[in-house]
Amino acid sequence: MIIFLPRPMRKGRVSIEEALWSRRSRREYGPSPLKLEELGQILWAAQGVSDPELGLRTAPSVDSTYPLELYIAVGNGGLEDASPGVYRYMPIGHSLELHLSGDVIEDLYHACFDQEWVIRAPVVIVIAGWPKKLTRKYGERGLTFMYIEAGHVGQNIYLEAEALGLATVAIGLLDEGGVSRALKLPKGLVPIYLFPLGRKA
Ligand SMILES: Cc1cc2nc3c(=O)[nH]c(=O)nc-3n(C[C@H](O)[C@H](O)[C@H](O)COP(=O)(O)O)c2cc1C
Repeated sequence: MIIFLPRPMRKGRVSIEEALWSRRSRREYGPSPLKLEELGQILWAAQGVSDPELGLRTAPSVDSTYPLELYIAVGNGGLEDASPGVYRYMPIGHSLELHLSGDVIEDLYHACFDQEWVIRAPVVIVIAGWPKKLTRKYGERGLTFMYIEAGHVGQNIYLEAEALGLATVAIGLLDEGGVSRALKLPKGLVPIYLFPLGRKA
């Protein structure tokens, strides 16, 4: 199943400087579900295509390799017009592809050593990467590149969330095996960074 996301906006109400000033890690979330256009805007900021001709994206990538993937865990009633499950963001086409049905947020919460804010969030974005895509070209340094790239993507998520008046926090303390099992990630794809996302409480 594919969900086509609304076209991302090019101009918001908050300047980049205002977003930088006010950005904070936010661990409390309101109860109402996110809208597809809100999640779509965040995913576009994270990994969306900004130059379709050259295939370039909003976040930089070494030699345009793009080794990262975004998986989105949607809890029960977490996202308008979408059933609970795990979706994969498809940058080309700006859409969500259903990867797994059912709410896995509790499993993610346990894989993050029971950090409360994970289970409180309506939606959790997971940044994962294919190390082999980089190490076969750059050796050990390729692994470092993967984590640097995840940092770029994470900062874009923080700033877009701030600009939209939403709340998020970077989660790096996690058990990789636990996250992989919860999301049923393909072999060789490594979970790096989680971003619970919701409305400000
Ligand atoms: C690499 C990294 C890992 C982090 N992991 C966690 C985490 O597992 N849980 C958490 O609550 N916050 C985590 N944070 C958020 C930091 O605690 C937060 O950025 C810091 O306290 C500064 O606050 P601020 O983001 O509001 O400016 C992480 C931040 C980074 C950069």
